[in-house]
Amino acid sequence: MQGCRLRSAGPVLSTSYVLQKLPETMFILYMLIMSISASTIQPEEHTVAAENCQFLGKHFKTDFRVEGEPVVLRCPQVQLWLWASVSPHVNVTWRKNDSDRTIPGEEETRMWIQDGALWILPALQKDSGTYICTVRNSSYCSEMSVELRVFEKTEASLPFISYPQILTLSTSGSLVCPELSEFTHNKMDMKIQWYKDSVLLDQDNEKFLSVRGTSRLLIHNVSVEDAGYYSCAMTFTHEGIPYNVTRNIELRVNKKEEETIPVIISPHQTILASLGSRLTIPCKVFLGAGTQSTTMLWWMANNTRIENAYQGGRVAEGQRQEYSENNENYIDVPLVFDPVIREDLNTDFKCLVRNTLSFQTLRTTVKEATTFSWGTVLAPLSLVCLVLVGIWMHRRCKHRTGKAYGLTTLKTGH
Ligand SMILES: *[C@@H]1O[C@H](CO)[C@@H](O)[C@H](O)[C@H]1NC(C)=O
Ligand SMILES: *[C@@H]1O[C@H](CO)[C@@H](O)[C@H](O)[C@H]1NC(C)=O
Ligand SMILES: *[C@@H]1O[C@H](CO)[C@@H](O)[C@H](O)[C@H]1NC(C)=O
Ligand SMILES: *[C@@H]1O[C@H](CO)[C@@H](O)[C@H](O)[C@H]1NC(C)=O
Ligand SMILES: *[C@@H]1O[C@H](CO)[C@@H](O)[C@H](O)[C@H]1NC(C)=O
Ligand SMILES: *[C@@H]1O[C@H](CO)[C@@H](O)[C@H](O)[C@H]1NC(C)=O
Repeated sequence: MQGCRLRSAGPVLSTSYVLQKLPETMFILYMLIMSISASTIQPEEHTVAAENCQFLGKHFKTDFRVEGEPVVLRCPQVQLWLWASVSPHVNVTWRKNDSDRTIPGEEETRMWIQDGALWILPALQKDSGTYICTVRNSSYCSEMSVELRVFEKTEASLPFISYPQILTLSTSGSLVCPELSEFTHNKMDMKIQWYKDSVLLDQDNEKFLSVRGTSRLLIHNVSVEDAGYYSCAMTFTHEGIPYNVTRNIELRVNKKEEETIPVIISPHQTILASLGSRLTIPCKVFLGAGTQSTTMLWWMANNTRIENAYQGGRVAEGQRQEYSENNENYIDVPLVFDPVIREDLNTDFKCLVRNTLSFQTLRTTVKEATTFSWGTVLAPLSLVCLVLVGIWMHRRCKHRTGKAYGLTTLKTGH
């Protein structure tokens, strides 16, 4: 039964495929290393592993598919390109998370297992759910779950089933019709139709080019109007019946990030501070319309990075702040002294800023503010008090001679 369904194609392994699947590939390698190290470090667990299957968690990605189309769920632990090497040694089984029954059931004709992957054709909305894949060999067993959501084919479901892709304004770039590897064993025959907002695109003009033998659509000189929902579709024939395989893409168009030459507008050349007190020196950089994301800003003391010069943290860089005022961009990284000590007066502080266009520095030194003492503050203050008291006394004497009754309440205190 299964034999006649097996397709002759071997694992597809191309650089673009591997690149597309890079995050998954890394994940699988990690899993592999983890499982190998687990089995080498804890050999005593080998015997129980067959019964106690190790659950490795839920796969990070959810498969969003359209009703009526083929769905292929791949076991996250065993990728397509590894299948050939492991297949003689492992058994892969599938079940839904709310049942112990393995899939496919006895009379299930829409589902089958092929190269370890679970095929569902055609998928129905009721197939949505969490699927658990169990990979078992004679000494090891692991499980992972994957989530499938099958949507009705309507415009309303587009935001849920679309893969986000991003291109940059005024450049050329391509959209990729994702996750077709199960259906494109013969790359040269691959014929993908592209739609924008459900309208078939003329795929061979100056604007759009569907690249033969790939799943890419080249877009020249991306404009703001190019953003929106695209779908790509190909036909997959199974037992003589053609099925559509469609994928939806939401294209977002980003503005190109431009850089300008940064200008350090603060600190001043000298900063006045009193020893023993806390001090914050801002380093504020003006970027105009330039992007903040590629601009680095940091401080140095005597040409040493702050975190190296002050390992105790008495002097440290504060939180980096990025903000805009009147559509102009700024960055600020303060240098915080807690507290200022005499050594700081002899240290050379520098704020440095770098992006791809320029590198700038601004030097600042800390100077001791005019010696602060209570005497210097109190002397003028007491003088002012004396004068005020004098004036008051003078007025009081005048009042007493005049309207004495007005001050009776005040006098009772004396
Ligand atoms: C079973 O799988 C584990 C992990 O993939 C592997 O280390 C081990 O060698 C396999 N055992 C056999 C007998 O194939
Ligand atoms: C796979 O399962 C079949 C039937 O359950 C069993 O005969 C076979 O030994 C299993 N193979 C491995 C590698 O566990
Ligand atoms: C199956 O998975 C779903 C989603 O992860 C979860 O809400 C549900 O509780 C699970 N059911 C069982 C029986 O574990
Ligand atoms: C790109 O398109 C814009 C308008 O959308 C146009 O002004 C510009 O000249 C085009 N650039 C090229 C290189 O075709
Ligand atoms: C496949 O898509 C085409 C174009 O949208 C449509 O005309 C055709 O009916 C679809 N076929 C199936 C089997 O859904
Ligand atoms: C920086 O150098 C000056 C003299 O060259 C020295 O007095 C001061 O302690 C140094 N500061 C730091 C933080 O090393």
